[in-house]
Amino acid sequence: MTIAVRYTAAFTLETVHAGAGCPGPGEVELAPAYVGICGTDLHIFHGDMDARVSAPAVLGHEMSGRVVRVGPGVEGWSPGDAVTVMPLRWDGTCPACRAGHQHVCQHLDFIGIDSPGAMQQRWIVPAAALIRLPGSLPLDQAALVEPTAVAVHDVARAAVREGERVVVVGGGPVGILIALVAQAAGAGVRVVELSAHRRALAGELGLETWDPAADDVPRLVSEWTSDAGADVAFEVSGAAAGVQTAVDVLGVRGRLCLVAIHPHPREVNLHRFFWRELTLVGARLYDRSDFERAVALVADGTIPAGRLISKIVPLIEAHTAFHALEGGGDVMKILVDCTDDTQGVAA
Ligand SMILES: NC(=O)c1ccc[n+]([C@@H]2O[C@H](COP(=O)([O-])OP(=O)(O)OC[C@H]3O[C@@H](n4cnc5c(N)ncnc54)[C@H](O)[C@@H]3O)[C@@H](O)[C@H]2O)c1
Ligand SMILES: [Zn+2]
Repeated sequence: MTIAVRYTAAFTLETVHAGAGCPGPGEVELAPAYVGICGTDLHIFHGDMDARVSAPAVLGHEMSGRVVRVGPGVEGWSPGDAVTVMPLRWDGTCPACRAGHQHVCQHLDFIGIDSPGAMQQRWIVPAAALIRLPGSLPLDQAALVEPTAVAVHDVARAAVREGERVVVVGGGPVGILIALVAQAAGAGVRVVELSAHRRALAGELGLETWDPAADDVPRLVSEWTSDAGADVAFEVSGAAAGVQTAVDVLGVRGRLCLVAIHPHPREVNLHRFFWRELTLVGARLYDRSDFERAVALVADGTIPAGRLISKIVPLIEAHTAFHALEGGGDVMKILVDCTDDTQGVAA
């Protein structure tokens, strides 16, 4: 008997026994090892996405694990293979897909939001979604490949070039990963983050940080860039004040890359867009090449994934992880460990 954790209503999770299904044609059954909790899972936990998520819903789209069984017609995968999942299923027929943008399919099934996710001990996914992991990569670190793929995609969307000056607003896991990927691309980077704990961790990773509550960020950017302003700003905070900072720091022809989910429309200083000829670029998810690059960056240590993991909790205690992140406590990334079979609730 395996267990699964489901979101049932705002601020509520339940642990249930899950029956073992069978992988159908083109599918594989996985044993998730580690599942990361991300800002989007928190939006769901808050009830912000109830219109989209049909409860009870198994969450989890950042994961690592192993293949258990393969369904009919699946080739190239065997039991025991270490994998992560690119959690996207597209229809292949809509205008976005036909234009080659399958990751923003107009009928996208984001696995772990629109369909059951990885917070369970057995998970059936399309074989086409599997991404192979090198055997040398520890599975806990591999759970950070998915958010790293987000960062790789975002840095490419913003077309960050060597020598450019980049401000990342919001130093949560995604913001830190964007900062590290942009730095690896040769950009100068500053991270603007409210939490002292998160700023300290970013500092340990070699990133310079500012506190928007205490520092005059636009003035510091102006000094840093000899009055030019930043080339690129990433909005990764999801806060109205973060949007304002990102717009305020940009120089002439600067690019604002919008990564965070803003559940409500925000006020934006459009005069500054006109005055400085700014560009706004939306960035959502990733494609397979972003994922493969992310595997390489985590595996070669460019992304020190282990340093971002604050805590690992057993699957049956997943709720404690949501509450810890909720409280804005001293945590960065929290993983849920699905492997421990001593944690099964009494049958
Ligand atoms: N575009 C995508 O495909 C994609 C993918 C993953 C996550 N996201 C979104 O990206 C956002 C970030 O994800 P995360 O997991 O890092 O979330 P997070 O909530 O852990 O991080 C947000 C950070 O912003 C900081 N912050 C809040 N207000 C601020 C302000 N005014 N100035 C500076 N910092 C401020 C918070 O302290 C926090 O550390 C979320 O909205 C998430 O939903 C988007
Ligand atoms: Zn489509």
